[in-house]
Amino acid sequence: MRLDKFVCKSTEFTKVEAIQSIHAGNVSVNGQICYDEAHQVHENNTVSLEDRILTPRAFRYILLHKPAGTICSNIDEHYPSVFNYVDVENTSELHIVGRLDADTTGLVLITDDGRWSFNITVPTKQCNKVYRVGLSRPIAEEMTEQFKHGLQLQGESQLTRPATLDIVTPKEVLLTITEGKFHQVKRMFSAVGNRVVSLHREKIGQIELDIAVGQWRYLTSDEVESFNR
Ligand code: URA
Repeated sequence: MRLDKFVCKSTEFTKVEAIQSIHAGNVSVNGQICYDEAHQVHENNTVSLEDRILTPRAFRYILLHKPAGTICSNIDEHYPSVFNYVDVENTSELHIVGRLDADTTGLVLITDDGRWSFNITVPTKQCNKVYRVGLSRPIAEEMTEQFKHGLQLQGESQLTRPATLDIVTPKEVLLTITEGKFHQVKRMFSAVGNRVVSLHREKIGQIELDIAVGQWRYLTSDEVESFNR
């Protein structure tokens, strides 16, 4: 990780304070003063702030059941941020892994481990995201083939990756996708002449939503590891 991040994760410094401290020559890596905040350091490097050896806090992995009318942002905007529901410190260090729209409910993962979230969001890793979708019109069984083949979304040069559509009732489906373009699910149904009236994310990879709306919990180590395989 970058030296400034290492310092932030080991102290109460903000990013700006960490950079100032590095530029002031207060931080050394393996006994050598380092002035470069972007210098890459590893867990086994000895990083010191003046005379104090720094140890970064462990990464955090959080599951939240997002309520409607909240936004996946670190700060409140038109709607309150989902972080109002997560009672942990230093939320500015955390980010959301695959954001949901304000009116979408369901499973949200939150972490400060960028490599881990990359495994979940990058389409080539083929991590499944399952959405329960309410539709304005009944959907025909034949649509499952179109979703499997890929859909042409407005403004995109490539078809969507193969998706699985399970029809629960004519106006309710489970959709499994491995990518997360902006408003992807809504745009997929719009591409076939339908409209999403309710959207809820039930599952990411092997992790299912097992807590009430507005509640959060830390992931178990098995859940965390399931995305590192
Ligand atoms: N796709 C959407 O259109 N909205 C979401 O919130 C998530 C996926």
